Amino acid sequence: MIYLDNAATTITKPPQVGEAVLAAMGTMGNNARGTHGEALTAARTVYQARKKLASFFNCSRPDHVVFTANVTEAINLALFGLLRPGDHAVTTVLEHNSVLRPLYMLEEERGIRLDIAPADEAGDPDYETLEELAGDDAKLIICTHASNLTGNVVDIRRVSRIAHSAGALLAVDAAQTAGTRRIDMEELGIDILLFTGHKGLLGPQGTGGMCIREGVEIRPVKSGGTGIRSYSRKQPEELPARLEAGTLNGHGIAGLLAALDYITETGVDEIEAREKALTARFLNGIRDIPGIRVYGKMNGDHAAIVALNIGERDSGEIADILSEEYGIAVRAGAHCAPLMHQSLGTVKQGAVRFSFSWFTKEEEVDAAVSALREIAANL
Ligand code: ALA
Repeated sequence: MIYLDNAATTITKPPQVGEAVLAAMGTMGNNARGTHGEALTAARTVYQARKKLASFFNCSRPDHVVFTANVTEAINLALFGLLRPGDHAVTTVLEHNSVLRPLYMLEEERGIRLDIAPADEAGDPDYETLEELAGDDAKLIICTHASNLTGNVVDIRRVSRIAHSAGALLAVDAAQTAGTRRIDMEELGIDILLFTGHKGLLGPQGTGGMCIREGVEIRPVKSGGTGIRSYSRKQPEELPARLEAGTLNGHGIAGLLAALDYITETGVDEIEAREKALTARFLNGIRDIPGIRVYGKMNGDHAAIVALNIGERDSGEIADILSEEYGIAVRAGAHCAPLMHQSLGTVKQGAVRFSFSWFTKEEEVDAAVSALREIAANL
């Protein structure tokens, strides 16, 4: 099997990730619950992971790294914890449903005002319209760092300038970029960074979270056990407990910590360069295949994602042929990105998405190119 669906989840992980999860399962007590050795093992591992993530993303405080089950949960906690009735939020058509659906829910149930900036033909956000929409009363701009459909990378510095001159906070969904490129919250001006552990960070599923800049106040949405202030009726004020009710996925976090060690030893710039080279190799390979249409902007800054179609054929049909006849795994259809598909005019056809990782081999990219050449010739 050739796995080219790394934007959905990375399958190949560094071996030490699985080893760390297994070791944690036999040794780890419950983080922040108890003072015996096993509980302390959990507490140390979880704290190391917070510390490592804070340094990785340049978040000023490890206790401002909050763990969740995935990026969707982190986005929900941030949006529901920040936006009150009448607040104005702005986003873009590039977003995944993990951003759009909570915003729609807040619009319907809490009466927030929501504006969505369009994209240009290449699939980049229309920054000027974004700025106009933010006006001077936006409370929050939330946008993806890279489209999970086209791989286009958003100019976060520019969005940050727009947000901060409107007096708004900037939340960035780094689902498709965390672990595969440098993300410096301070330098980019990000107030809340939302990440998942199981894609570019090469960790286990069930891990994710957010990094919160000092001074940003997010009210708790979940409440429950935290291991501290047990006699208080209220969720504790201090982070990370404020946003972390219930037992954490300590086993998964142990794996994520091992993955972070692997990434920092390998070098995130190395990873970015390799993923870019694989993407360029794929694009060069398919360039002259008649009938292929690639979506998004393929020059400049780009995540390791390429979405395409062959003629008018349904994307699901092409993905099935790739899977059944060539053993190549890709993702077709709507990719939970409805507005991006609307913007590109691909609602009916969907698109066939290829996505690469640090562990993808050149031969696998070449096999995908040959398969597409044959499929296009035979259709
Ligand atoms: N968000 C993931 C994707 O784009 C699951 O496939």
